[in-house]
Amino acid sequence: MNRKGLVLWLTGLSGAGKTTIAKGLEHELRERGCLVEVLDGDVIRTNLSKGLGFSKEDREINIRRIGFVANLLSRNGVVAIVAAISPYRTARKELRQTIENFIEVYVNASLQVCEERDVKGLYARARAGEIKAFTGIDDLYEEPLNPDIVCYTFEESIQQSVAKVTAKLEELDYISAYQRCEN
Ligand code: ADX
Repeated sequence: MNRKGLVLWLTGLSGAGKTTIAKGLEHELRERGCLVEVLDGDVIRTNLSKGLGFSKEDREINIRRIGFVANLLSRNGVVAIVAAISPYRTARKELRQTIENFIEVYVNASLQVCEERDVKGLYARARAGEIKAFTGIDDLYEEPLNPDIVCYTFEESIQQSVAKVTAKLEELDYISAYQRCEN
């Protein structure tokens, strides 16, 4: 069994593919014998961060809360996969400084691509002024300058992105190569 805990932090615009990659990674890493939990921004906002909005202050609180829980999990041998926009460089830097095994994954798709996908219909509502302070439209997203991994979801398949992340985890010796649970 793989028992090296870490935090895999997926940052990117809404609709970039964070949740999809997180689910793909969850499946792959369980197959390889890891303990895995996914902390998804949309889900966290219905419980742990219920009541928080999208002001800078609220987003920072949200990110710190998720980081706190992810750190507890990782200290206990769990691969905590976070999928949250987490738009601020300083907040992500703080996570890197406070979490021992922290890997930043930039789920990179342009605003144009995310807006064309508009899976949840939120970009259209933001453009219509129905949602204020929407990331990428009238609110900030600070691209990571030095992420550990970049997934270009416009040109990579989910499988390719998942393989890219797992290869990096093998390289960093968090998981062993070819290790799979057979039963
Ligand atoms: S974060 O900025 O605090 O990291 P988080 O990932 O938890 O954001 O939540 C983002 C999700 O909330 C989006 O995927 C979208 O479904 C929803 N959402 C609602 N309003 C906004 C907004 N103003 N900006 C961004 N996302 C929003």
